[in-house]
Amino acid sequence: MRLLVTGGAGFIGANFVQQTVRERPDVTVTVLDALTYAGDRASLAPCAQDVDLVVGDVADVDLVDSLVAGCDAVVHLAAESHNDNSLADPRPFLRTNVEGTFTLLEAVRRHGRRFHHVSTDEVYGDLPLEGSTRFTESTPYNPSSPYSSTKAASDMLVRAWCRSYGVEATLSNCSNNYGPYQHVEKFIPRQISNLIDGVRPKLYGTGANVRDWIHVEDHNRAVWAILERGRAGRTYLIGADGEHTNREVVEALLEIFGHPRDAYDLVPDRPGHDLRYAIDSSLLREELGWEPTYRDFAAGLEATVRWYQDNERWWRPHKDRTEQRYRALGR
Ligand code: NAD
Ligand code: DAU
Repeated sequence: MRLLVTGGAGFIGANFVQQTVRERPDVTVTVLDALTYAGDRASLAPCAQDVDLVVGDVADVDLVDSLVAGCDAVVHLAAESHNDNSLADPRPFLRTNVEGTFTLLEAVRRHGRRFHHVSTDEVYGDLPLEGSTRFTESTPYNPSSPYSSTKAASDMLVRAWCRSYGVEATLSNCSNNYGPYQHVEKFIPRQISNLIDGVRPKLYGTGANVRDWIHVEDHNRAVWAILERGRAGRTYLIGADGEHTNREVVEALLEIFGHPRDAYDLVPDRPGHDLRYAIDSSLLREELGWEPTYRDFAAGLEATVRWYQDNERWWRPHKDRTEQRYRALGR
């Protein structure tokens, strides 16, 4: 199989490409990535020999057309992915997430290629903090932020291209990923890199918001299961029953670093901050037989801390600029 992976130099994409090269010698991988602030050639270093990296924009019609023509299937991960950035400047989110997805859909329609769209549980909005309700494939869309509304728009385009043009596409909506190669703007790597630098972790609001954590390798195995065995036109929710409050995550990190569990700071909240995400992934488990392999969040978190301690050269170049942005936001 000749696979085109968009956003393959980002967090989930680089893990997806590395895992694919490691485990599937029959697949040849081309990555299309604009190498924005969030993309890093170094994230593909372990498999650089085996991957063709094309630096370019998913909204570039001619480039996308020629790459799609030369592949059998597309896994679409490229996106502007950070909520805080989307609140400060939504425009790039519309261009990449909406126009970029449209550009890819038109190309796969022209060339009759298989398409998998990687999306987020944030399209469903949020759940109350109290209670045990979870998102399912039939939860109505109700996005809160510029980021999640552009991802919701991109999902709608994929569904429409399936129904109206018969494009052979699947969608997945996953909860919060953690693991190696995640940009230091995101919650867990920001706190780990802060702790390495002797800076106290920063919790938005009261730290009571809940996220449903999944290891990036489990997410990527689910994407492969859907690509190979998923039904065209279907949406699959991906989640590993990993609900924790943000405060619990910071306390666990402080414990790993041997600091008191309350050695964190509360900072002003994110506007429109979604309260709680939780995924019911029964369809994926029952129909495709997928199960998470990282079931112990504390152990996964500890391995992630070790990765950031051992790979400072990878994240250090991004740290100062990221914290400058946060300082400007007062967070
Ligand atoms: P990321 O920000 O780490 O990586 C995004 C990648 O896309 C970067 O390499 C960037 O250079 C590239 N990119 C951005 N704009 C581009 C453009 N116009 N053309 C080509 N490449 C471009 O994001 P991530 O966390 O790896 O997320 C990947 C995908 O997974 C996104 O679609 C995101 O919505 C989705 N997702 C993420 C999570 C999560 O927890 N991180 C959870 C569910 C779904
Ligand atoms: O649910 C899937 C989504 O998860 C993906 O679609 C997004 O691409 C990804 O960024 C992530 O979105 P979140 O907004 O949940 O992730 P973030 O890492 O920005 O924040 C996680 C939680 O931690 C959130 O409740 C905000 C909080 N937070 C974040 C930062 C950066 C803090 O308390 N302190 C911080 O310093």
